[in-house]
Amino acid sequence: MKTRTQTEFERNIRQGLSDHPKHLHSKFIYNKEGDALFQQIMQLPEYYLTRAEFDILEQNKTEICQHFYAKDGFDLIELGAGDGQKTKLILQELVDKKMAFNYLPIDISQNVLYDLKKNIEKEIPEVPVQCQQGSYFDVLKDLANYNKRKKVIIVLGSNIGNLLHDEAIDFLQQIQQSMGEFDMLFMGFDQKKHPQKIVNAYNDGQGVTEAFNKNLLKRINNEFDANFNLDDFMHWESYDPETGTARSFLISKKDQQVSIEQLDMKVEFHKWETIHTEISQKYDDHVVNWLAERSDLKIDTHFTDSEERYKNYVFKTS
Ligand code: AVI
Repeated sequence: MKTRTQTEFERNIRQGLSDHPKHLHSKFIYNKEGDALFQQIMQLPEYYLTRAEFDILEQNKTEICQHFYAKDGFDLIELGAGDGQKTKLILQELVDKKMAFNYLPIDISQNVLYDLKKNIEKEIPEVPVQCQQGSYFDVLKDLANYNKRKKVIIVLGSNIGNLLHDEAIDFLQQIQQSMGEFDMLFMGFDQKKHPQKIVNAYNDGQGVTEAFNKNLLKRINNEFDANFNLDDFMHWESYDPETGTARSFLISKKDQQVSIEQLDMKVEFHKWETIHTEISQKYDDHVVNWLAERSDLKIDTHFTDSEERYKNYVFKTS
């Protein structure tokens, strides 16, 4: 019998669309089109996260780079590097201050890394760049091998917010296990704030976030020969100020049946039935402290913007 390996996406579709309530994982939003939509989200007036973090880095770059400094140089390892717009502020400062370092960006997308390397070589040619492609969890295993000199691990964009607390602790623990006494973790966490600001950030007026969320269904149509009609689903965002969890859904606007030919699946939707697609966790100092304690890390210091919308924490191993 001919066997075919199930991809992770296929497994997620089979399981997530058979469960009650239904769910799909947000990591599958990111194909070429999903990446481009996320780039657009970062420019939206409602999506304050990127600008807040950019401002923090711009205003505090000198002090941040002093924390990074090591006499014998250091490896600057960025997990989920993306387009590197914010990181370039730091790279330029490190070059200006003549610090010795290697920049090692890691991203799941080979395309993203290719563009990033080209861009840095053009704009800040003094930076030694060495890209590595892989998912966080693949790459975390190799992190401990960077042990010849100080290691500074950076994770920007509040990417940790797309993980449940247990997954976030697992992620932080794996980073912690790779860290020596003098190594550092520099990580961005979006903060709890007026609930309306958060809901608006994930429900923009131009419908870009809606298209981003619906890209999951579009991918299933294209890759598994399905017939989701995107107009029969609506994007919905909720925010629970008690837990700090923003949740994205796709909601079926009518009773309908969708076929996914390649998976030999027929999926029934009742009117107003949901597919949960993403969480974007918001934090405060108590929660970040709790995550750090559970991961044997301690907060050394943090940097924030004037409205405390967003914070970048410096962690050391405890
Ligand atoms: C990548 N991640 C941190 C974004 C967030 O804010 O959760 C993804 C996103 N989803 C909708 N808008 C942006």
